[in-house]
Amino acid sequence: SAPLRIALAGLGTVGAGVIRLLDANADLVTARAGRPLEVVAVSARDRNRDRGVDLSGFAWEGDMTQMASRGDVDVVVELVGGADGPALTLARDTIAAGKGLVTANKAMIAHHGLALAESAEAQGTALKFEAAVAGGIPIVKGLREGAAANSIEHIYGILNGTANYILSTMESSGADFATTLKDAQELGYAEADPTFDIEGIDAAHKLAILAAISFGARVDFEAVACEGISRVRAADIAQADALGYVIRLIGMADISTDSSGAPVLLQQVKPCLVPKGHPLAHVTGPTNAVVAEGNYSGRLLFQGAGAGEGPTASAVVADLIDIARGEAGAPFSVPAAALQAMAPAESGARIGQTY
Ligand code: HSE
Repeated sequence: SAPLRIALAGLGTVGAGVIRLLDANADLVTARAGRPLEVVAVSARDRNRDRGVDLSGFAWEGDMTQMASRGDVDVVVELVGGADGPALTLARDTIAAGKGLVTANKAMIAHHGLALAESAEAQGTALKFEAAVAGGIPIVKGLREGAAANSIEHIYGILNGTANYILSTMESSGADFATTLKDAQELGYAEADPTFDIEGIDAAHKLAILAAISFGARVDFEAVACEGISRVRAADIAQADALGYVIRLIGMADISTDSSGAPVLLQQVKPCLVPKGHPLAHVTGPTNAVVAEGNYSGRLLFQGAGAGEGPTASAVVADLIDIARGEAGAPFSVPAAALQAMAPAESGARIGQTY
């Protein structure tokens, strides 16, 4: 049957990975999607950079925001990044044109997810962002579909690989924060400007999205109480160790009620003391891990690579397969109009104690 025609905006690590995956796994992807997934147009800042993929078969779009109005495109994949700017323009225009949007952009969904979901539903088109949360881990799908029968009671986890690399490396090497951050940058885990990773902002973006899906709450990034790891010292880690704990940057969300019985939503990202026996204490290196506790499923642990070419491309293509099958569903599990506005809860600690 007719191919799903794709425009790809952004040809960094993930964009090139999507092209490589679609090529390498073409047969199984076509079989599972029920039709071919075909990239027709691409766009990026630099046309001439060698990405190790052959772009000659694709139309080149100089202005990526024009992809939204191409007549030969069914779905736009946005891999540009940034909460606002061209990524948001492209997302809005794509949805307004009635085309599907697949994005890996956690900042954009954390800030504008509700408005984008409302437009997508009004247009009857798909908005999918599996790759925005924990890279290759199918956590959005896992919560929306796998745990669909549950009331989720708690969701928490390690949502930033760079911060986890730094903390777990400080733990094994005894080195200080600044030295370990420099190693992380040299290894390519941390960005040249690692602020979003080490100050918890990247984890907070992902937490706000997970909380919305888990609790049917409006995405509310501003309400996340956020503290990063830049003040964690080697001595803190040694002291935690002596007491039977490790330190992890944990994003956590749960719901309680205020004195009038109205739901309040706790969302916080903080360095926490995690008991050595807890599964999250064993997560080391640039890895993500999410724990969801459902009232029937019990504790579920999702662990894997939260970034990188293959894992993130895997999540992007899974979203494309859903769209090709006509199975996109409501972006946040329930219609945007049903998402509740919830007041922020007082911050608190649940795993060990807040460090
Ligand atoms: N920089 C992020 C991390 C990956 O280190 O986990 C993308 O969100």
